[in-house]
Amino acid sequence: MSPGWDRSALATLLRGSVRLDEPLARHTTYGVGGPAEAFVEPADVADLAACLRFCSARGVPCRVLGEGSNVLVADRGVPGVVVHLGGPAFSFLEASPGPGADGRAVCHLRVGAALPLGRLVALARSEGLAGLVFLAGIPGSAGGAARMNAGTSAGQLADVLESLELVLADGSRQTLAAEHCGLGYRTSRLPAGAVIVACSLRAAYGEPQDVAAAIDRYLARRRATQPAGASAGCVFKNPPGGHAGRLIDQAGLKGLTVGRAQVSRVHANFIVADEGATADDVARLIDQVQQAVAAQHGVALEPENELWGFVGAGEGGG
Ligand code: FAD
Ligand code: EPU
Repeated sequence: MSPGWDRSALATLLRGSVRLDEPLARHTTYGVGGPAEAFVEPADVADLAACLRFCSARGVPCRVLGEGSNVLVADRGVPGVVVHLGGPAFSFLEASPGPGADGRAVCHLRVGAALPLGRLVALARSEGLAGLVFLAGIPGSAGGAARMNAGTSAGQLADVLESLELVLADGSRQTLAAEHCGLGYRTSRLPAGAVIVACSLRAAYGEPQDVAAAIDRYLARRRATQPAGASAGCVFKNPPGGHAGRLIDQAGLKGLTVGRAQVSRVHANFIVADEGATADDVARLIDQVQQAVAAQHGVALEPENELWGFVGAGEGGG
């Protein structure tokens, strides 16, 4: 069925690529989910602004997808536009040493929102950037990580973020200092519909061999404690003072299966989508885990994964 808005007008307007009915399973780490009515890869910031203005003017829903490592897309897909940033205009990495607040040298970085976090970890290793080691093993793009304030017990984006460069829903540009981004545990508060196009970071230096050893340690720990299958990391946020994984494990839910989706036997806060799984399998499993943990522990687990295109609770705006 064709949508109630003019997709060919968008394709004509933009210099970047516009793919119609693009399956989002190809663009998420769960590897499940239906199509976007239009999947847009803008050529540059001006092209992105034109896309956002188009959507705002016509009331077309618009979301932005990074590497899709924290998103569950419904099997029926999502209406409107899904913007995906890529290419040199959004994947640059500029790094220069400079004085920090306490006079010690720090590295100032400006990175495109589409830059994979792995590139920052590689830089941390080669340049001895102690401030970035916590990123080791976190999948995703710089923009997605900033939006989620991604992190581990060793640190989070908020620790190193100086500012975000945004394109707002009306196509205008804004630079927001980190203290105005509303960063909290796996959350941020950005203007509605804002797309991050670049992030400025500040990272302390350390001894290169210590930095490399820390990165290797974090990667090894992750390999030992987290599953390798198709997932979107931890499904739920940790509740205050506790660990969702431990609660799910204690409730005896490891291995619980719906269709081809399973609560990981390695880490109970991961759901692994095996070959042939549907988004509905994953969503039903999320629901069952929430209900069981509420019944057994009296704790309401809040999803960290964003659910796109589902009706009712848990729907992420994106
Ligand atoms: P997406 O999943 O594509 O998007 C996430 C959110 O960010 C969405 O709301 C999206 O709209 C928004 N977004 C994406 N790009 C932009 C942009 N340019 N502008 C504005 N909004 C944007 N997370 C952790 O915090 N710590 C971990 O240790 C961790 N481990 C993981 C391990 C595995 C195996 C996996 C699969 C995931 C893990 N995650 C972890 C979750 C995920 O990797 C992070 O949330 C990640 O940083 C999301 O980045 P992304 O580019 O994939 O964003
Ligand atoms: N645990 C269990 N059973 C399990 C899993 C964990 O009992 O199946 C226990 C562990 O033994 C440990 C405690 O729970 O005592 C915490 O486990 P872990 O160290 O793995 O940390 P976590 O709180 O489960 C958090 C983040 C991860 C991040 C790790 C490493 C959240 C929701 N999760 O996991 O982030 O990688 O710390 O620092 O904050 C993500 O956000 O997607 C994510 C994977």
